[in-house]
Amino acid sequence: MKTVDINLARELLIKGDVVAIPTETVYGLAAWIYSEAGLRKIFSTKERPFFDPLIVHIDSIEKAKSLTGNWTVVHEILAKSCWPGPLTLIAKKKNSVNSLITSGLDSVGLRCPQHELTLKLLSTIDGGLAAPSANKFGKTSPSQASHVFHEFGDDVSILDGGPCQVGIESTVAGIEKHSDGWKVLIYRPGHFTAQTLKQILAVHNIKATVEYAESPVAPGQLKHHYMPNIPLVIVPEHFQWEKQRNLIEQKFGREFLKPAFWELSTDPRIASRELYQDLRKFSDFGHDLILIMRNSAQVSDDWMGIWNRLDKAKSLSISNNLAALE
Ligand code: TXA
Ligand code: MG
Repeated sequence: MKTVDINLARELLIKGDVVAIPTETVYGLAAWIYSEAGLRKIFSTKERPFFDPLIVHIDSIEKAKSLTGNWTVVHEILAKSCWPGPLTLIAKKKNSVNSLITSGLDSVGLRCPQHELTLKLLSTIDGGLAAPSANKFGKTSPSQASHVFHEFGDDVSILDGGPCQVGIESTVAGIEKHSDGWKVLIYRPGHFTAQTLKQILAVHNIKATVEYAESPVAPGQLKHHYMPNIPLVIVPEHFQWEKQRNLIEQKFGREFLKPAFWELSTDPRIASRELYQDLRKFSDFGHDLILIMRNSAQVSDDWMGIWNRLDKAKSLSISNNLAALE
């Protein structure tokens, strides 16, 4: 594994290379926002299409503001309350933000990550670092340095900051002003839930609705994403593998010899921390299929981010009436 310290990471980034950086959510594949070569290298290394915008990481609200045209009171309150932390705020971008980062949109996603090493690195860098998760496009995100190495080998230098504590990507929130008040739209669920954001705004006497929504413009929210090397199938409660396996095997047109029966921790914080590590480990152990039960006890706000990732990572789900849905 090609590991680097903060000084060498900085040098590589300024010179137009990419470096994997630790955050509290997942490892990011970073490039300096003012290096077009570095930004292009993110897309080529990840094999990521240009239509999927990148998040810019900064170490202060001041730096976030310097990249945006309309930093509203809602941005300010949410940033002050949640940063450093797993919340990405969408704001109108300044012209100086390279459109490679924003996929040509007029807005930019900004977040201040909660990781000592990366905050130190960011403090030495002008502007910020654009960083998507450090995995090949559509594949499982990395929550440890070894996952990044598994993905890219020695092609990518890694600033090793240990395992990620949150484990799933940041909550992505857009902010709109309407005549009857503010609207916060959560395009990607994560650690910060709608309920939490609502409470923060209420404490500051801001009249706002907070809702989960599909992003009208950001296409990053593709149907399939985070996919492991072997198929993941979501089954209903009371599913019995021995009796009902034919449903799945018919759909795939093959037999499965070593299915893994995956159970998440009952604590959503632990379940999200372990999610990507677990999703990767089954194929390492020689399994050829992962089965996970859609648990009716896991429907609260705290579980949204986890089930959002599982629903995109799955190849198939079996409904309660035993229909196979893709
Ligand atoms: O936790 C995270 O956010 C991690 C770490 C590395 O910080 N990063 C991450 O990046 O998850 P990525 O590229 O895997 O996800 C970025 C997503 C895009 O796919 C899109 O959905 C959303 O963030 N996004 C970025 N810019 C946007 C914009 N201007 N408008 C709407 N959504 C945007
Ligand atoms: Mg990603």
